[in-house]
Amino acid sequence: MSGKNKLAVFGFPGTYPAAKALARELGVPAHQIEVHTFPDHETRVRVLERAETAVLYRPLHDPNAKIFEVIQAAAALRDMGAKTIEMVCPYLPYMRQDKVFRKGEALSQTIFGKVLAPWIDGLTAVEPHLHRTRTLDEVFEGIRAIALSGGKIMADYVRQKGFDQNALVLGPDVEAWHTARPFAEALGLEWVTAAKKRRGDRTVEVRLKDGDFKGRRVIIVDDVISTGMTVINAARAAFAKGAAGLEVYAVHALFDQKTAQDFKAAGIKTVASCDGVPHPSNKIPLAPALAKALKA
Ligand code: R5P
Repeated sequence: MSGKNKLAVFGFPGTYPAAKALARELGVPAHQIEVHTFPDHETRVRVLERAETAVLYRPLHDPNAKIFEVIQAAAALRDMGAKTIEMVCPYLPYMRQDKVFRKGEALSQTIFGKVLAPWIDGLTAVEPHLHRTRTLDEVFEGIRAIALSGGKIMADYVRQKGFDQNALVLGPDVEAWHTARPFAEALGLEWVTAAKKRRGDRTVEVRLKDGDFKGRRVIIVDDVISTGMTVINAARAAFAKGAAGLEVYAVHALFDQKTAQDFKAAGIKTVASCDGVPHPSNKIPLAPALAKALKA
């Protein structure tokens, strides 16, 4: 294999601009993978270029069909001569079902790890909801699996933009400290978490026990926004405690346009997310941190 085929980034339609941005940061070529969807919705994946080390870029929001396409791509890259396949998956799905909550439920996190790991040699993800499971290696056995801190990446962005030194960082549930704490610590800000009870997909209660909110700017920091109910209820609780202004930072934005309007109605003026999942709220580029991790 010639020198020019040593390392390349391979991306999929839909998120190819982000794959190209990562390739630019790495100073290597980017190639687009072809995906053909048959009338019966089966897909055929084709790679047109080869590389000794293939960086396979794909965020896996709306994951079910994408997962099988990624596996096909990894197999095709291997057939084309790839010795190493480094998957870069800024949004890693199926991480929230990390235990059997009710008898009979499938343990999605473990199953997903077993499905994907055999096809790749390495995996880099951003803030992959590691709560009860402590490291990605436990999910993807036998490969190098790295989780980057979305909290730190968002803090770097906020530092450059400028921020209120008296702001209070709020993680909207106890588990949110994984994201909120590194964010707050990197900026030297005070942080607290809320107590959350999720009674259904769209029914969420958020209570604030700690923290002095009166007259302060509040920065809600979370890993994922999906229905938006966590953030909306956290914002309402913060305003009820006297917050003077409020902004939201999330690593992965999965919410729809209706939810964006609900945010405005709840007094949330600014929502900024990282650009792993394509979304109108994206402001924070992940390519520099992903490239740094791949070079390490
Ligand atoms: C939960 O553990 C996560 O950290 C997020 O708080 C949650 O996924 C957000 O979901 P939603 O936007 O649907 O309330």
